Amino acid sequence: TDLYSVMGNPIGHSKSPQIHAAFAAQARDNMLYTAQLVPLEGFADAAERFFSHGGAGLNITVPFKEDAYRFAGEYTERAKRAQAVNTLKRMADGTVLADNTDGVGLVRDLTVNHQVELAGKRILLLGAGGAVRGVLQPLLEQQPAELVIANRTVSKAAALAEDFADLGNVSGCGFTEVEGAFDVIINGTSASLSGELPPLPVSALTPATVCYDMMYGSGLTVFNQWAQDNGVTTTIDGLGMLVEQAAEAFTLWRGHRPQTHNVIAALRNERR
Ligand code: ATR
Repeated sequence: TDLYSVMGNPIGHSKSPQIHAAFAAQARDNMLYTAQLVPLEGFADAAERFFSHGGAGLNITVPFKEDAYRFAGEYTERAKRAQAVNTLKRMADGTVLADNTDGVGLVRDLTVNHQVELAGKRILLLGAGGAVRGVLQPLLEQQPAELVIANRTVSKAAALAEDFADLGNVSGCGFTEVEGAFDVIINGTSASLSGELPPLPVSALTPATVCYDMMYGSGLTVFNQWAQDNGVTTTIDGLGMLVEQAAEAFTLWRGHRPQTHNVIAALRNERR
């Protein structure tokens, strides 16, 4: 049995064990996937112990994604850019490879599950923390016409834009400085957690704007509610991204890609 785990703090509400169990069942993969609560200062010790006892792969969630980045010995290109990782894999020679599958999960959910075209489009990304850094390279690889990063702390948006400027037309600004309407707006701030809303001008929206919140919960997120209240017809929450980032990690570990459609549907049904 190949052993996998997700490490975080807190970890109680993680859906990853359920998602990976569903993926494993599809192909009758003989694997075990557990969740581990790790003390705040204890990631490196826990990861070291996990891999030295034969663990095959880890997922990493809040607040250990930067710790996991430092722990690894090898990196995918997108992981290097993100400087934070949600996936570790033990290679045959014992080195640990780090990947960040959040961005490709977001892109797959948008483009494959929801048929939202990103190429040539005007995209607005809200937030400039780890969650946004993690998705920038995969988003820019879709070749949007323009990608604007808006953040409460403007300097962080500007710095992030500069870090990724070689990958496309990307700029940073504050929420109130956002100009014009966008085809796609992605909320990557943690404002929804506290029920808050980034103060975005409604002129950023048209009825055809696709609004995507990386967060999810039982009803609409505050951001998606705001979008609908202002006439937007397509709002999407982050549940599909959650399953797609898991599918990408599973593919890296196992060498074959699981079906995600039924897994997303099952999680959605559970919440009703
Ligand atoms: P994460 O890993 O979720 O990205 P983070 O790195 O702490 O967490 O980043 C949180 C992001 O949400 C930041 O962009 C933060 O804005 P600041 O950079 O100005 O701190 C944003 N954020 C958090 N609470 C917010 C709020 N109430 N309104 C707007 N933005 C908020």
